[in-house]
Amino acid sequence: MKKILVTGGLGFIGSHTVVELQNEGFEVVIIDNLSNSKIEVLQGITNITGKKPEFHPFDLLEKDKVQDFFKSNEIAGVIHFAASKAVGESVEKPLMYYENNLGSLINILNGMQAGNCNPIIFSSSCTVYGQADVLPITEDAPLKLAESPYGNTKKMSEEIINDTTKASNIQAIALRYFNPIGAHPTAEIGELPLGVPNNLIPFVTQTAAGIRPQLSVFGDDYPTPDGTAVRDYIHVVDLAKAHIAALKRLLHNENKTAMEFFNVGTGMGSSVLEVIHAFENATQQKLNYKIVGRRAGDITAAYADTALVNKELGWKTELSLEDALRDAWHWQLKQK
Ligand code: WQD
Repeated sequence: MKKILVTGGLGFIGSHTVVELQNEGFEVVIIDNLSNSKIEVLQGITNITGKKPEFHPFDLLEKDKVQDFFKSNEIAGVIHFAASKAVGESVEKPLMYYENNLGSLINILNGMQAGNCNPIIFSSSCTVYGQADVLPITEDAPLKLAESPYGNTKKMSEEIINDTTKASNIQAIALRYFNPIGAHPTAEIGELPLGVPNNLIPFVTQTAAGIRPQLSVFGDDYPTPDGTAVRDYIHVVDLAKAHIAALKRLLHNENKTAMEFFNVGTGMGSSVLEVIHAFENATQQKLNYKIVGRRAGDITAAYADTALVNKELGWKTELSLEDALRDAWHWQLKQK
């Protein structure tokens, strides 16, 4: 039976996408080097779906292993998540980010051609837009200079894939995520930030759980209604389902061009203070926070124009901000 390869399939978005693929009846194989995830996630996926995905723990930088994998497996399509993704770390270690994120992608694309596998869904990010001039953000918004090497690897990866589709039979869809949050409603899988969380929601739930003494709100002097920065927070399960819709589009040859781009968000912006209050309402947990200065590199506001993804993929978000915050909290409560 033809399989779907999910690279980084034990990661936050990857694991939730594996669950939805299995729910749709796809046979899934995961490659993950466990550099930013834990093997226990495999059991979490299995507990939800009753099906243990095939798993290979090698590094995508091992070109020969990637080539051998594609030659010895019938892969119908690839969903490529595997990448380093910490914005701050990428500023300190740019070469590690370029080598890992671009090198892994190039090995995957070469492997796909060796294995005559054409469809790829690429995990991209709204970070490619920087601070957009017009909100909500459409797919034809100009791409800005990246704020970090991490963001630059996303932009460069899109270009590498686009060029490859012009010189091969590879067909691609880049999903530009806004802010993925939450966890699976079963609390069997969720976000596993290693060390001090960079992102807002894990910091919120760890503060509420008493792991962190206080949440710092990075700035309340932005030109927004309450002064705090605005983002488009999308439930990770909704985001996972967008990958299924995109994969089916390519498998059924419904794509209109060799490479397509879709903004994947809720279409609604929420400020940091609105998220805090929504968390307190959804979980009945009081949150200890203080306003501090802005974080370097942060933009004021970003939220998606979802018209194209709704129309072309026939997908839209079904879960609310409160659903995501409640699921994130239930997941946090299960952590040791
Ligand atoms: C959200 C808002 C912060 C932490 C980044 C990447 C993006 C993607 C998601 C990987 C901002 C504020 C945060 C805190 C705070 N990364 N905040 N206190 O920066 O929008 O996006 O993560 O795929 O590509 O750019 O997400 O969760 O870090 O921040 O006030 O302790 O919360 O200033 O306004 P961001 P974030």
